Amino acid sequence: MTTPVYLDCDTGIDDSLALLYLLRSPSVVLRGIGTVSGNIDAATAARNTLDLVALAGHAVPVAVGEHDPRVGSYAGGAPHVHGNDGIGGTALPRAGEPEAESAAQMLVRLAAEHPGELEVLAVGPLTNLAAALDLDPELPSRVKRVVVMGGAAQTSGNVSAVSEANIHNDPEAAAAVVDAPWDVVLVPLDVTLENRFTEEDQSALLDSADPAARAVGAMLDQYFTFYQGVYGFRGCALHDPLAAAILVGEIEATRAPAVPVVVDATGGPGRGQTLCDLRHQRSGTADVPGAHVRVVLDTDRPLGPVLRARLVG
Ligand code: RIB
Ligand code: CA
Repeated sequence: MTTPVYLDCDTGIDDSLALLYLLRSPSVVLRGIGTVSGNIDAATAARNTLDLVALAGHAVPVAVGEHDPRVGSYAGGAPHVHGNDGIGGTALPRAGEPEAESAAQMLVRLAAEHPGELEVLAVGPLTNLAAALDLDPELPSRVKRVVVMGGAAQTSGNVSAVSEANIHNDPEAAAAVVDAPWDVVLVPLDVTLENRFTEEDQSALLDSADPAARAVGAMLDQYFTFYQGVYGFRGCALHDPLAAAILVGEIEATRAPAVPVVVDATGGPGRGQTLCDLRHQRSGTADVPGAHVRVVLDTDRPLGPVLRARLVG
């Protein structure tokens, strides 16, 4: 039995690692991919996604999603992190064209085709998911689970003092997604920053016989340079791949209490913060009754070696 998955992404260097990991994971099957503006604009993210999927020897429908967040306009992405093209200037052979439907339409359709089975992995701003909730208010009853890379529970943000990029880029959408009555697993910076790729991992990718593995290995130059400047080590955090590995089940969330979560969508200095109410955790790890958002605070083992094994083959 394989799990049908819809991936929503802003491809993106760590998105590319997550995408290739999912394509190489036999227990899941990507039924569709929607793109959103975040690291790069939604149309370029779709181009990157189509090209990498084809280079990996797969065929997955890709739909372009929302260009602008719910409020305001796309602010131009993160070229200092992911490069001007989102993939660190890595040339990929062009392949395929996006679907005619939007990402939100694709998600609604796939949920209807796989009622109660479809799992959603969101590793970019949550604009498409919020748009899908607008299109189909019954969507939460048809989706099995939504795994989101985003937020910061007990650590600082990476865009502002308190907000993480995916939430920061569309807090109104994130609030809509967290408030909707479906099971959400939030994979925040608290855990993603603890899982890393090193230069050794990059060398293994670059030495691989697999062209897609070599391509993501080449992308890491840009990402590593950013991390070296900001975090002081030549390597990178595995944000999006960790969320993917938790969805797949190769990494287990050993501490992930279900707690009330509120996204700050006000205009103040807290905008984009994920307020995770962890007060009850001081006396144990019990879930708060009625809470439907699990916040991952610990995992069973480091992702680096697991990811490397999958990607290098
Ligand atoms: O904060 C990290 C997240 O922002 C990752 O999903 C990265 O790809 C960017 O979208
Ligand atoms: Ca991403």
